[in-house]
Amino acid sequence: MILRTLSILSLALTSFASVPHAPVTEPTTLDPSTSKELLHLHRKLVEIESITHNEKHVGDWLVSYLEDLNYTVEKQTIAKGRFNILAYGKKRETTILVSSHIDTVPPFWPYYYNETSGIIGGRGSVDAKGAVAAQIIAVQGLRKHLFDDISLLFVVGEEQGGDGMRNFSDWRYRPSPNYDIAIFGEPTEGKLVCGHKGMLGFVLKATGKAAHSGYPWLGASANDIMVEALGSLLELREHLPWSEKYGNTTMNFGRIEGGVAANVVAETASANIATRLAAGTPEVVKGLIMNALKDAKANAQQQGGDLQIDWVSDGYAPVDIDCALEGFETMTVNYGTDVPLLKGHHRRYLYGPGSIFVAHSDHEALKKTELEQAVLDYRRLILKASEMHKKETQQLTDQLEL
Ligand SMILES: *[C@@H]1O[C@H](CO)[C@@H](O)[C@H](O)[C@H]1NC(C)=O
Ligand SMILES: *[C@@H]1O[C@H](CO)[C@@H](O)[C@H](O)[C@H]1NC(C)=O
Ligand SMILES: *[C@@H]1O[C@H](CO)[C@@H](O)[C@H](O)[C@H]1NC(C)=O
Ligand SMILES: *[C@@H]1O[C@H](CO)[C@@H](O)[C@H](O)[C@H]1NC(C)=O
Ligand SMILES: [Zn+2]
Repeated sequence: MILRTLSILSLALTSFASVPHAPVTEPTTLDPSTSKELLHLHRKLVEIESITHNEKHVGDWLVSYLEDLNYTVEKQTIAKGRFNILAYGKKRETTILVSSHIDTVPPFWPYYYNETSGIIGGRGSVDAKGAVAAQIIAVQGLRKHLFDDISLLFVVGEEQGGDGMRNFSDWRYRPSPNYDIAIFGEPTEGKLVCGHKGMLGFVLKATGKAAHSGYPWLGASANDIMVEALGSLLELREHLPWSEKYGNTTMNFGRIEGGVAANVVAETASANIATRLAAGTPEVVKGLIMNALKDAKANAQQQGGDLQIDWVSDGYAPVDIDCALEGFETMTVNYGTDVPLLKGHHRRYLYGPGSIFVAHSDHEALKKTELEQAVLDYRRLILKASEMHKKETQQLTDQLEL
C-alpha cells in the first residue's frame, strides 16, 4: 500500500513538472457504498461456520445472496448436504471463471472487526472468504462490461483434498470444457502467484510383533522399524530435487504414532508425511523414497515384520501459473490449491487478499484496506487478462489468415 501511494504521489508530481497528463483509467479506491456491501458480505460469510464437510449453511446463505443479485445459481451436489455453487448471468457457458472455496480449516473462530485498527478477523476471514467476498463485489462492478462472460464458482472441500473442485472438473453437466481464463482466490498478499510447489503425501506403516519389553527378542518392534525408516528419510530429505523457482523440496513428518506402552514391544507404528515438491514429478520422488526405504524394509522383513508405503493420492508436480500481467507484484508459494484440479486449457491466475502466514492460525485476520484493494485488483485482473487473451487470439487469427 505504501508503494502504491508513493507511486501515485510521484505520478502527480511528475505530471505537474513535465509530463502532459497521465490518464487514470481505474479507480484507486472503492466508493463507500461498495465498501459497505463488501464488509457486510464478508462478515456474513465469516460468521457462518463452514469447516470442511459442514459447508451447507454458508452455501445456502450464499445461494440466496447471489439469487438476490439476479444471478442464475446452480447447486452441484457432491455429497449429502454438500454442494458447489455456480452462478452466472444470461449465459451458462462463459469464457471467464472466477473461483474460490467456501470451506475452512478447524476450529471455528468468531468474526470480529476492530474499527480503530481496521483489522477484520475470524476463521476464514482470510482463507478464503476474503477472496470470495472480494470476487463477488468485483464481478458486480463489471456487470455492465463483462457480466455475461463471467461465471462464479464457489467450491467445497478445498482444505481436504479438493473433492469439490475435482467433482466440478469431471461434472457431466459442466458448462465449458475449456474456459479462456480461470481466476482462483487464495491468500496471496494481494500479489499474483507464478506457481506453487507440488505435493506427494504418504503414510508409512510398520508392523512388528508384540512381546514383553523384558524379552524384546521374542518380538519385533514396529517402532524400531519406523525409527530406522524415518532416519533414512531424514537423510534423503537433504537430497530431494530443488529448483531456482520454488527452492527446496520439503518433507514434513506431520504425525507419528506407534506402540501402546513403555513395557510392550510395539506391534504397529505409522507416520503421515507430506512432501512439497520444488521440482521433478511425483513418480520420480516416489522412486527416491522407495529406494531410500529399501534397507529398512528388508530389515523389517528379516525380523518377521514389515514396512509399507501407502500413497495418499497420485500427487502432483509443481504447478506453474500465469502471472505476467502488467501492474501486479508476483510471488511463489508453498501451499497447495485447487488450481491443478480444474481440467482443461485455460489461462489461470491465483490472487487473493491476506497472508497465508496467518491463514490457518488462531489469529487469522486481514486489514479492511486489503479487502478493498482486492476488489479493485480482481477487476483489474479480469479486465487485463481478458484484454490480453483477446489480443493473443486476434494475433493467432491474423497469423492463420496470412
Ligand atoms: C433483479 O431483477 C429484478 C426484476 O427484473 C429487479 O427489479 C431488481 O432490481 C434486480 N436486482 C438487482 C440487484 O439487480
Ligand atoms: C461427484 O459427486 C457425485 C455425488 O456424490 C458423485 O455421484 C460423482 O461420482 C462425483 N463425481 C466425481 C467426478 O467425483
Ligand atoms: C482495536 O485496535 C486498537 C488499535 O490497534 C487497539 O488499541 C484496541 O485495543 C483494539 N480493540 C480491541 C477490542 O481489541
Ligand atoms: C535448500 O537446502 C540447502 C541445503 O540443505 C540450503 O543450504 C539452502 O539454504 C536451502 N534453500 C532454501 C531456499 O531453503
Ligand atoms: Zn484456501
